[in-house]
Amino acid sequence: MLVLGIESSCDETGAALVRDGRYLLSNVVASQTEIHNRYGGVVPEVASRQQLATIIPVLETALEQSGCDWKDIDAIAATYGPGLAGSLLVGLTVGKTLALAHNLPFLGVNHLATNADCEYMEGDPIFPLICLVISGAHSELVLVRGHGQYELLGRTRDDAAGEAFDKVARILGLGYPGGPAIQQAAQHAEEELKQQQKSPLLARNAYRLPRAWLRGTYDFSFSGLKTAMLHLAEGVVENQQSHVSSSGDGKPGSSGPQTTQYRRMGAQAAQRGTINIGLLAASFQEATVEVLAVKTRLAAQEYHVKQVVLAGGVAANISLRTRLEQELRPLNIRLSYPPIEFCTDNAAMIASAAYFHLCRGEQHGLDLDVQPGLSLPFRLKVAK
Ligand code: KG4
Repeated sequence: MLVLGIESSCDETGAALVRDGRYLLSNVVASQTEIHNRYGGVVPEVASRQQLATIIPVLETALEQSGCDWKDIDAIAATYGPGLAGSLLVGLTVGKTLALAHNLPFLGVNHLATNADCEYMEGDPIFPLICLVISGAHSELVLVRGHGQYELLGRTRDDAAGEAFDKVARILGLGYPGGPAIQQAAQHAEEELKQQQKSPLLARNAYRLPRAWLRGTYDFSFSGLKTAMLHLAEGVVENQQSHVSSSGDGKPGSSGPQTTQYRRMGAQAAQRGTINIGLLAASFQEATVEVLAVKTRLAAQEYHVKQVVLAGGVAANISLRTRLEQELRPLNIRLSYPPIEFCTDNAAMIASAAYFHLCRGEQHGLDLDVQPGLSLPFRLKVAK
């Protein structure tokens, strides 16, 4: 069965042709990151207008690269949530219209479930498994008991992991999207240490940053870490300003104990001349990765799973992958993740996931609407 997949949930426009859920014939992604970089984040109105401008060329290219014709396609699938309403609307409307015009079955796909369902994987998933969904909008630890059977173990109480990467990258002046920018800056910092014959691991704890363990839960929180980074950066700036203006007393800001702690850290580092964006990025990345990896390992142990699956844009992070491997290998737990290009938004995963649903006879009517706030269809937690 040949499925045309369409993805337009945020700032990427994707079209892909996938045969039998696993054989990729073409996968085209037009990214808007350069446009949104200017604003330091995605501007929803701009994103949906750009989706409109790119969807047809992206579809035409995907069809051309696959070497297929409309008559070869057996079904069309498009993301219907979660995401930005205006962006989702473009891909979903185009998908439904093409299905109507070519008299083909249509399926709306829950973008979050594409990885969690594990059907893209070579080899059978080992249920129950733990799936860590980490993207620009989600940080969820999910127990997957079988295809489509999800139990929510924990989620972020404030910022999503990817959102924290994006916001901290903005604070550090590293641009958008923040995840790859922070990863690269951290890698550079580690390379520099290696060249100085020092352990690259020193970069990761160059600045001691807070970790929200929220013990006894599988919830996450990244806003405290993000705020610590902000105060640290403010401390640096204040210190620099106090050097410029002779009237300044050189002391960091004093608006509360926690604020002061990280402001002082920033100011002191600036005074010592040891402030370094790469080391800051590496320390932030380490604080985020440590909490994600340790909590995932604890959940895997508690629920006696034999496999952990990563999903979402942050799953592309090399440090996270490495740390999780280190946590899980001694326990004989397999770690699976999609290739890097399939971690962020793409239509190949949509077409692949759709195939397995279509095989089960599932299909949507053309009245299917976008669901920007769609989540995984969680079941109530059942006894272990
Ligand atoms: O799943 P995704 O493509 O889209 C939505 O959330 O819509 O995830 C995008 C997020 C962004 O926050 C981006 O900064 C983050 O994934 N990301 C990364 C990396 N690559 C992308 N975060 C950390 N490390 C990376 N290498």
